[in-house]
Amino acid sequence: MKIPDPHIIVIFGASGDLTKRMLIPAIHQLFIHNLLPKNFAILGASRTPLTDVEFRKRMNEFLPTDEESNSKFLNKIHYRTIDYELQDDYQKLKRRLESLRQPLNIPANYLFYLSTPPNLYDVIPEKLALADLNIQAEGFKRLIIEKPFGINLASARKLNISLLKNYEESQIYRIDHYLGKETVQNLMVTRFANGIFEPVWNRNFIERVEISSAESLGVEGRGGYYDHAGAMRDMVQNHLLQIVGMVAMEPPVVIEADAIRHEVMKVFQSLRPIKPENIHKQVIRGQYTASTIKGQSIAGYREEPGVDPDSHTETFVAMKFYIDNWRWAGVPFFIRSGKKLPTRVTEIVIEFKPTPHHLFDQTGNDHYKPNQLIIRIQPDEGILLKFNTKEPGSGFKVNQANMDFHYSSLTDIQLPSAYERLILDSLHGDATLFSRGDTVEAAWNFIQPILDAWENDPSIPIYGYPAGTWGPYESDGLMEDEKTWRYPCKNLSDDGLYCEL
Ligand code: BG6
Repeated sequence: MKIPDPHIIVIFGASGDLTKRMLIPAIHQLFIHNLLPKNFAILGASRTPLTDVEFRKRMNEFLPTDEESNSKFLNKIHYRTIDYELQDDYQKLKRRLESLRQPLNIPANYLFYLSTPPNLYDVIPEKLALADLNIQAEGFKRLIIEKPFGINLASARKLNISLLKNYEESQIYRIDHYLGKETVQNLMVTRFANGIFEPVWNRNFIERVEISSAESLGVEGRGGYYDHAGAMRDMVQNHLLQIVGMVAMEPPVVIEADAIRHEVMKVFQSLRPIKPENIHKQVIRGQYTASTIKGQSIAGYREEPGVDPDSHTETFVAMKFYIDNWRWAGVPFFIRSGKKLPTRVTEIVIEFKPTPHHLFDQTGNDHYKPNQLIIRIQPDEGILLKFNTKEPGSGFKVNQANMDFHYSSLTDIQLPSAYERLILDSLHGDATLFSRGDTVEAAWNFIQPILDAWENDPSIPIYGYPAGTWGPYESDGLMEDEKTWRYPCKNLSDDGLYCEL
């Protein structure tokens, strides 16, 4: 395994939740699995005044409780208070970086992780550049930018322009943690390392594609942020569209950042714009309302802290669209995402066309079910193929059976977290699993007319759905021929059952 060059990771917004819950535990995992060089350091920076010792104590909160490796790791963590607007503080930061790296013989390799409120995504890189912390003569200088990358097309464009003034595209790592998920990456392997799938992966054999990302949790104390974002900005513009890119792209020429991102870009360029007059037919938005689950009352979205009591923000989106290219012409794509749904599950359903002739209808079967390939992103990560078999006994009764693979059966393999993979990749300078500036803009370009219509046309309804249900039933109306979404449970192969709530 290649080890990255010695470096310092600087985390801006270090006193925030993401740092202690996700980033530090991910770097710790890389450390204990010997995936980091001997000499590296972490410097947390944020407004809150803290000493190194106080910061380390906070960071220890989410580490596993094995004290020996923890203290070795914690000793590599440092802290510096910063006023983000003050140029002088970046000079001081630079001096601190020098003083950290010189005794350890670390070259000036710096990875700047922006885990701050988004209004600082242009401020910090600009001020770093004014302190020459963008210049790569003596070591790499890379930026990781958390989501959301812009709040609409115009702001995403503005942010790209501002970053590209001082940095090369190859220095910018726009994070989408879904791309760091092992199972999302496995999509490429499933498609391009097997001879059996790719020949049927097109409009001649596929009836429709369905992608669902359901969460049982609500906004969990993030009401203030979420009420200005909504499910479309929070999940669809980034995570779901990136999955669409992986499902729909052409085989890349090589497994390299630009080759792959080029193919994703082509998919986004082929998304058929949804016309304003079709938005209410093709896009369903919903908001969860109060309900009772297992005798417990659950608050509605408008009662959540930080949420406007008259809020029209969507906590659920379901939509139907087409990809106008040679491979996908005429195949409908359905995607949905929502909070306070019955279970947490993200999966892709590829539904194949029925057999051309229903031979066994004459033998007492109703139309039998189509083949489906279900790629489970989380939980119970795996792949399920639904196919028809003969029921044992006389006659030809057809029943659907499951062929399934679960990652959990690979007992000696623990799936690394998305952040582990992405931080390690950025240290290696590999941007394959990060979004490129033009693809982010293309994704915004697709959803912007929908956001505009929602904002400007009060006749487009926002449907209520009781917390703990699968969203407004109007979302089934997106499908034709009495088809419905797959209503999955926590376990990949359970369906047609009553989900555990
Ligand atoms: C984040 C969203 O990007 O993804 C959250 O801001 C959402 O609202 C989360 O809960 C879902 O991520 P995961 O990995 O738990 O599916």
